[in-house]
Amino acid sequence: MSTPSPRLEGKVAIITGAAGGIGEAAARLFVENGAFVVIADVQDELGDQVVASIGPERCSYKHCDVTDEKQVEEAVTYTLEKYGTLDIVYSNAGIIGSLTGTLNLDLKALEKTIDVNVCGGVAMMKHTGRAMVARNIRGSIICTVSAGATRGGLGPAGYTASKHAILGVVRSASRELGMYGIRVNCVSPFAVATPMACTIPGVKRFRLDPEFIEARMSSVSNLRGMILKPKDIAEVAMFLASDESACINGHNLVVDGGFPDSSDTFPVNTYKAVMDILRWSFSKVTISSILSTFMPRYIISWFDQNRDSIED
Ligand SMILES: NC(=O)c1ccc[n+]([C@@H]2O[C@H](COP(=O)([O-])OP(=O)(O)OC[C@H]3O[C@@H](n4cnc5c(N)ncnc54)[C@H](O)[C@@H]3O)[C@@H](O)[C@H]2O)c1
Repeated sequence: MSTPSPRLEGKVAIITGAAGGIGEAAARLFVENGAFVVIADVQDELGDQVVASIGPERCSYKHCDVTDEKQVEEAVTYTLEKYGTLDIVYSNAGIIGSLTGTLNLDLKALEKTIDVNVCGGVAMMKHTGRAMVARNIRGSIICTVSAGATRGGLGPAGYTASKHAILGVVRSASRELGMYGIRVNCVSPFAVATPMACTIPGVKRFRLDPEFIEARMSSVSNLRGMILKPKDIAEVAMFLASDESACINGHNLVVDGGFPDSSDTFPVNTYKAVMDILRWSFSKVTISSILSTFMPRYIISWFDQNRDSIED
């Protein structure tokens, strides 16, 4: 019996935001399945480490801030020159942005979120799409959107707005690029305990315990025992990148274990969020490990910095 060939044999891919989290898992999986991958990110040191651990013969790092259109163009040119073609684009870079709800939303912070999550994705689609059209490549473009892209209550207000917007871009681009045989789809994860999900923006050195995120999300999922890992999302991105999904275009593939429509998970009230974390921590660990994990000075400085947005 012959062994099946790897699902992305010989294909060339760019993955943005692949120095960590979901993008890194995708880079590993794509290479394992026969692809050549360019990791495009702003975290150069981490990006180089990922390349070293995957193997530089099938993978390389290119600094690319997706909010800078010129850097996006350069990343595309770099890929074409190094590997000779471009079959797969996984536009995955993103930030959570400001954690507030609409009432406390700082418009400058909103602009930054839109800049990375929307304009960055548009720039990727524009320049990779142009390269594919010019070379008659029937490629696949995938975007990491979010389960929060089709409803409210799963993320902060600015983030939710940005993910709704990029979903619209994907749908629109799928019509336009479909005329050239290029597919554009997205994968929409529910919460995954990556660095993004475990970090509180603006509060350095404070990390939520990944187990906290996983326990909280698992408890609200409809699919008993589901704990989403970066690799689960990478598997879906690989399906959309591969020829197995050759007839799928303009699709939003939500990976949420059947999350009930009636539930909200994102606590807009920051005081309540902190209390949730502390309550969970107390139920889980001993006093001494709480003190070493959640140093009181971080909590105090976090409260200080967020005094204005803390609601009763
Ligand atoms: N983790 C989740 O719960 C979750 C849920 C839904 C959607 N997502 C989406 O998944 C994607 C990946 O997120 P993750 O959870 O792996 O987070 P992560 O923080 O681990 O990874 C995001 C990566 O994007 C990079 N990045 C940020 N800004 C960039 C920029 N301007 N240019 C280039 N790279 C940049 C970061 O350096 C990082 O490596 C994001 O689009 C995120 O919105 C995540």
